[in-house]
Amino acid sequence: MASRFVSSVLVVLVATCSIALASDPSPLQDFCVADRTAPALVNGFACKDSSLVQADDFFFSGLHLPGNTSNPVGSKVTPVTVAQIPGLNTLGISLARIDLAPWGVNPPHTHPRATEILTVIEGSLEVGFVTSNPENNLTRKVLQKGDVFVFPKGLVHFQRNVGYVNAVAIVGLSSQNPGVITIANAVFGSKPAIANDLLAKSFQVDTKTVDWIQSKF
Ligand SMILES: *[C@@H]1O[C@H](CO)[C@@H](O)[C@H](O)[C@H]1NC(C)=O
Ligand SMILES: *[C@@H]1O[C@H](CO)[C@@H](O)[C@H](O)[C@H]1NC(C)=O
Repeated sequence: MASRFVSSVLVVLVATCSIALASDPSPLQDFCVADRTAPALVNGFACKDSSLVQADDFFFSGLHLPGNTSNPVGSKVTPVTVAQIPGLNTLGISLARIDLAPWGVNPPHTHPRATEILTVIEGSLEVGFVTSNPENNLTRKVLQKGDVFVFPKGLVHFQRNVGYVNAVAIVGLSSQNPGVITIANAVFGSKPAIANDLLAKSFQVDTKTVDWIQSKF
């Protein structure tokens, strides 16, 4: 009886723990530098032999350099994730620099695996996210240099430079590999394309309008 009780408590604990996870799983060792060449497939990357680990496995240089914002949206994200720093593997954290030309936008997008915290280093930004509960409610704010704002995990969010000079933000993300789904690109730029009559009904426009938007992506 006692052991059955203990095991049911364990089952409840395990279920509760998995619900409470809010970011990448915690590491079980000091570090696990990504070995991107390892044949083993795990949730993340396999660990490099720790005797071969060097300081450069935890290092990235270049975040002082502005991103090139000469593109249709006028912004550029420079990510620093496990793809740039193998030492981030299993640590549940990453960084990015966002450059925005005057009136440039980082279009509505979502990070499936990370909450984001942003600080403005230069310029001023309009930021916002849309909630699921209450449904489709916009939370927005204009930020100045030194201000900090949070975008909760999974929610659609955006940034826009509302000044006449370049804006720069640095963001922290609660995943080694936050992922990004840019809404317009995903919906109108998927390969192969989503059927235009399906999108026409979804967006309540005609198929010619959908064809025209799809041609932009
Ligand atoms: C920025 O990107 C544009 C468009 O791709 C390109 O023409 C230009 O040479 C780039 N500028 C720099 C400094 O790399
Ligand atoms: C949406 O959120 C704002 C706060 O950001 C709140 O003032 C407003 O009442 C909300 N609207 C609805 C319809 O829930």
